Amino acid sequence: MVPSSNIEKRSAATGALKFVKDNSTIGLGTGTTTHYFILGLAELVKQGLNVKCMASSIDTAKKAMSLGITVIDSYPDKLDAYFDGADEVEPGGSLIKGGGGALTREKILAYNSREFNVMVDSSKVKEKLGIFGVPIEILSFGINFTISNIERIGGKCSLRSGFASDNGNPLIDCYFGDIDNPALLESMIKKIPGVVEVGIFNGMTKRIFQGKGKEYILKEV
Ligand code: 5RP
Repeated sequence: MVPSSNIEKRSAATGALKFVKDNSTIGLGTGTTTHYFILGLAELVKQGLNVKCMASSIDTAKKAMSLGITVIDSYPDKLDAYFDGADEVEPGGSLIKGGGGALTREKILAYNSREFNVMVDSSKVKEKLGIFGVPIEILSFGINFTISNIERIGGKCSLRSGFASDNGNPLIDCYFGDIDNPALLESMIKKIPGVVEVGIFNGMTKRIFQGKGKEYILKEV
């Protein structure tokens, strides 16, 4: 039997696919929800949709190419849209991302897209961010300094053991309890030398596609 969260991931992806425009350039996220989006996109491409994609991870690029989707490395303008999952989403559209460790490339693509469409199953929807923790990509150099500085502002951090991002960097997961002000916490962490990127995404989300069984709910932020 397919777990209900997977059914909802697919429902959310089905909703988001309706917002892919012909002759557009889009960003592809990373993870199991995006997996359903890529499968659906490949079907649309087979039916004649013309789309160029930038991938947020090596894994996503390989998957998309293997299904016949055109993947590009760079683009001279903003992407038309970015499509990705999330680990947590709150009513204002702020997100926790990075469960799959691709947060830096994901944030680059989200920031450089005209719109960001988030696809989630209902377990990801929260009143406040925080339970999942905050994934943070950091440099190996000075790693103990960086972790101590994050702990000084209230994080309890653990190293994701045996993991390196596509950029070759370690990742830590830090717990701050309920996050009342995601924008403030994001900027406090980003100021710490050695931090490459923070898995808090603020002010980027345009639409949230939330799976609800075999249907989806669309929320405009
Ligand atoms: C990867 C991510 C993913 O979007 C996030 O972890 C959600 O993953 P999934 O769709 O597998 O639940 O941020 O870095």
